[in-house]
Amino acid sequence: MKEILVLNGPNLNLLGKREPEIYGSLTLAEIDERVAALAVDIGILPRFVQSNVEGVLVDELHAAMRWAEGAIFNAGAYTHSSIALRDAIAAVGYPVIEVHLSNTDAREEFRRVSMIGPVCVGTVKGFGWRSYTLALRALAELIGEGGD
Ligand code: DQA
Repeated sequence: MKEILVLNGPNLNLLGKREPEIYGSLTLAEIDERVAALAVDIGILPRFVQSNVEGVLVDELHAAMRWAEGAIFNAGAYTHSSIALRDAIAAVGYPVIEVHLSNTDAREEFRRVSMIGPVCVGTVKGFGWRSYTLALRALAELIGEGGD
């Protein structure tokens, strides 16, 4: 079974409590459960990691080179600032899908820039928790399972 990394960055551990009008009322654990349930259906094995620390996110992307076929990544606010994460994604070689709960294009100006977008295979944003399941479906098709 193909394994993928589901990586979440800063402040996403506060989902459920954090600005629910923007990010929804589900906790990250509840989103992970929904991703895990879909993953079972489509024959993918996800590993879930969250960190508020930029360097830990870099390390997790590197470590996944040894085992992952791809990754779904919500980099939180580091999306808009982190050259280190961009370089890590460019370096790892496996496909990474950028994910956001909110539609960052419809929010503040500074959220319209993504440092990581150009090195990801694509972006899913604005669908709330469903951004993750949509990204999982896309990644599964891309890496050759769950498609026709
Ligand atoms: C976010 C959007 C980012 O701009 C913000 O900093 C986040 C969450 C999202 O999922 O909508 O932390 O990545």
